[in-house]
This record gives sequence, structure tokens and C-alpha cells, in this order.
Amino acid sequence: MNNHEKLLSILEEGASDYISGEEISRRLSVSRTAIWKQINKLRELGYTIEASSRRGYRLASRPDRLEVSKLARALNSKSFGQRIVVLDSTVSTQQDAMRLAEEGAPEGTVVIAEEQTAGRGRFGRRWFSPRGKGIWMSIVLRPTQPLAFTPQLTLLTGVAMCRAIRRLTDVEVGIKWPNDLLIHGRKVSGILLESATEDQRVRYCIAGLGIDVNLNPEDYSPELLKVGTSLKIETGREIERTALIAAVLEEMEQLCKLYAEQGFQPIAMLWEALSVTINRSVQVHTGQDIPVEGTAVGLDPSGALVIETDQGERIQVISGDVQL
Ligand code: BTN
Repeated sequence: MNNHEKLLSILEEGASDYISGEEISRRLSVSRTAIWKQINKLRELGYTIEASSRRGYRLASRPDRLEVSKLARALNSKSFGQRIVVLDSTVSTQQDAMRLAEEGAPEGTVVIAEEQTAGRGRFGRRWFSPRGKGIWMSIVLRPTQPLAFTPQLTLLTGVAMCRAIRRLTDVEVGIKWPNDLLIHGRKVSGILLESATEDQRVRYCIAGLGIDVNLNPEDYSPELLKVGTSLKIETGREIERTALIAAVLEEMEQLCKLYAEQGFQPIAMLWEALSVTINRSVQVHTGQDIPVEGTAVGLDPSGALVIETDQGERIQVISGDVQL
């Protein structure tokens, strides 16, 4: 054990009681200044250590580290999350999950990372994925439906995430078509669904989920903070990521079962009830020069957004960016 680990084990021994600096210094045979430096190192790693000039030091909380064993204990599902890979750092969990899917990993296999160095968003954008502050997770899905129906899985994933966040917090989170979760108009989460196909048959899909959980305002650039937010900013408290991951996986499992048994109709109903897009006046940028404008009136059976223009024409939009 190095000194840093020894200090941690002394603090852990004390459970939630204070241990005097003098005692720590005697047991580690180092100066009080050296202890102070190490305490600050532990704080940088996410430990909350309270200091009192009279009583010494007390370990108030440990960092919220993602661990397979903790996740397994928190999970109440049959298939989703039965195989979980936790990585300290990776380029993008999408790539890791794809590799596992190619090797034959079953539906519900999950890759989660503490940080992504090049997290991917929709339309080739970057996804900001700082260490330890969010949920950066990719799930292997093996749908039996044709390729044209895979957008339905994006909507299903959005419903699962919305329900999981509502289960653990009391924030009013809603879904902006097709895949953004918003709180008070700011984005807290996004979904990237990528599919591998062969002759129009879907071999597998990877549902990539990013949730800004415990980011503080100062973690964001000024531009990102204008449009983005985190659960911590909205609730004023830290949210335990392990519990939220477990809730998302449980909701995904239930909804995938419902989808397999009853098709898209019940998912569409749940989605519409959680949506902040339906019955709103919207502008959809589809990559064409002129955006589609009108009122979002619902989903069509494939999951496309139906827009009614001022002229009463109904237009189905399969992919695009919605502005409310
Ligand atoms: C978006 O709103 O543009 C989608 C963002 C999806 C981000 C997640 S984080 C986990 C997974 N790995 C990635 O590189 N991207 C997705």
C-alpha cells in the first residue's frame, strides 16, 4: 500500500468519526503538512473529507465510481445489463459495444465508461463526456423488425430514459423528437442509435445514451451551458449514477418486451405522453435548404414525426433537428 492508500484506509477505519491529524501523522510517520497535501489529492479524486482544526479529519463520502459488482447488486433485470463492461476511459462506448456485438454479444450487453475522449453525437457532432460526471453508455440491441423501423428504437430508448429519470428525481423531464431529453428547455441527455445491416436485414443496433448527471455549471463551456443542463443543476443534489443506470436498463428491458409482444403502438402512446414536441409549433431542419414548419401533431406508425403545415398539409419527417 502506498501512503495515499494507507491514509484512505485509516480514514475508512474511522467510518464517519473524526481522526486527529496527530494520530494519522504518527501512524504514517509523515508530517502534518504531508497529510494535508494527500488529503487534497483525495479530494481531487472525488472523496469528500471534512477537516476540523480541533478534531482532525473525517471521510464524509466516497467518489461515485462505476463498478460492475455495484451495478449487478443494484440491477433488477433478466437480460439487460447481465453483461456489463465498465471502462475507465475510452474513445467512444459505441465502438466498444459494436466490437462486442460483432463477436456475438447478446441483446442487453452494456458498455459504460467513466469518460470518453471522442464521444459521438448525432450528425457527426462531438458529445462532451467528462470523467465521472455522467452516464456514457451503449447497449447492444438485436431487433427482428426491418431496418425502416429502427427509428422506433430511438423513441423507445427516450421513453426508458425519461421514465428512469422521473423515477429517481422529481424533475419534469420531457422528450423532444426524436431523441433529446429536455428539462426547462435545456438538453440533459441525447441518444445515438447506430445500426449494422446486411441486405436490408438488421444485424444489430447500438443504442448510445449520454446523460449529464452530476456536471456543475463550471464544467460546461459558456456555449454548452446556454443549451445544456445536468440533473445536479436541476435538482440541486448529486444523483447516484449506479441507481440511474440500473433504472434505465430495467425500463429498457420492460419496454423492449412490450415492443416485441405488442409492436410500436403502446410505445408511441407512452412517447407522446412524455413528449414536449406534440401540439407545439415547430421548425424541423432536415438537411434540405428549407426547414419544415408547422404544428407537430403526432407520430406515424413508423415513428416519423407528423407535421401539419399552416396550409393543412401533413408531412412525415423521418430525421432532423427540431426547433420549438
Ligand atoms: C446526441 O444527442 O447527439 C446523441 C448523443 C449520444 C451520446 C452517447 S454517450 C454514449 C455513447 N457513446 C458515444 O460516443 N455516443 C453515445
